[in-house]
Amino acid sequence: MKNTNPISLTQFLIEEQRAHGTLNAELRLLLEVVARACKRISIAVSKGALGGVLGDAGTGNIQGEAQKKLDVLSNEILLQANEWGGHLAGMASEEMDHPSCIPGEYPQGGYLLLFDPLDGSSNIDVNISVGTIFSVLRAADDADPSTDEAFLQPGTQQVAAGYTVYGPSTLLVLTVGRGVHVFTLDREQGSFVLTQRDVKIPVKTREFSINASNARHWEAPVKRYIDECLAGKEGPRGDDFNMRWVASMVADVHRIITRGGVFMYPLDAKTQKQGGKLRLMYEANPMSFIVEQAGGAASTGRARILDLVPEKLHQRVPVIMGSREEVERVVGYHAQA
Ligand code: AHG
Ligand code: MN
Ligand code: MN
Repeated sequence: MKNTNPISLTQFLIEEQRAHGTLNAELRLLLEVVARACKRISIAVSKGALGGVLGDAGTGNIQGEAQKKLDVLSNEILLQANEWGGHLAGMASEEMDHPSCIPGEYPQGGYLLLFDPLDGSSNIDVNISVGTIFSVLRAADDADPSTDEAFLQPGTQQVAAGYTVYGPSTLLVLTVGRGVHVFTLDREQGSFVLTQRDVKIPVKTREFSINASNARHWEAPVKRYIDECLAGKEGPRGDDFNMRWVASMVADVHRIITRGGVFMYPLDAKTQKQGGKLRLMYEANPMSFIVEQAGGAASTGRARILDLVPEKLHQRVPVIMGSREEVERVVGYHAQA
């Protein structure tokens, strides 16, 4: 049934500010501006071929990946939206070599914003869900926000994190450190509306998410975990497991937040040299913060992701996240090995 008294993102944030003091006016402005930028990205994504946004940009990022037009456009939209409000000291993005400073004509604020402007780029041209991931840190008083070093804070320092999914509907999933809340974009009103408060990842799960084409490269603990899942009712887990891999982290993790499971992009022989596939600052940290706030766990297999002290802005890490018991099992297999 249609909700006749919808709570908008603005109302939610103001009430959160009033009741719990988990955010101040500056952080609230920041989150609203990010949400507004994501609305613009959502509109661009939904236009598809009609908007001329599909295909390659013809450029590459610092990580040697070919950029899609939408990677570049989404990055631009987030930069433009966030530079004038006075809430930020700087921004860092998966698509930029180094942080972007706030132009001199605008005041500087106390926060740092990091983002993966468009997650799941390989899905853009095939009309499958993509999203945006963001993380908010406080800028240290003595830090120079034009340097990579200013951003190198462990995930435990995040004051907010969120992701959007541009799918059949556009969702914004947000935490300010007091649970995880889901907002759905009401396209007629042009606003994000609270549709789920304080979501919790189901504990009991029989679903895993991994790119199985890498199986031959996996380390023994991951191979053991997946083999046991695949063995089904007759195997050591005594149950049949299901597998899903969208190849957009936002979509895969959102499914897990909704109905449980474990998402893995583990260390493997292919990605060992670079430390993993997913980016710590733009993907692993914000998604780990959200997963933990939803009652789940997130690990590299050897350490809690949020405790990692970043060494490089574009650092990559192995990621195992989702339902707590399953993550703990995989971590246990790593310890035994
Ligand atoms: P991005 O599009 O921001 O580069 O991220 C893609 C990531 C992540 O979303 C996804 O889980 C993974 O890469 C997919 O990797 P494979 O293509 O190796 O499956
Ligand atoms: Mn990504
Ligand atoms: Mn991306």
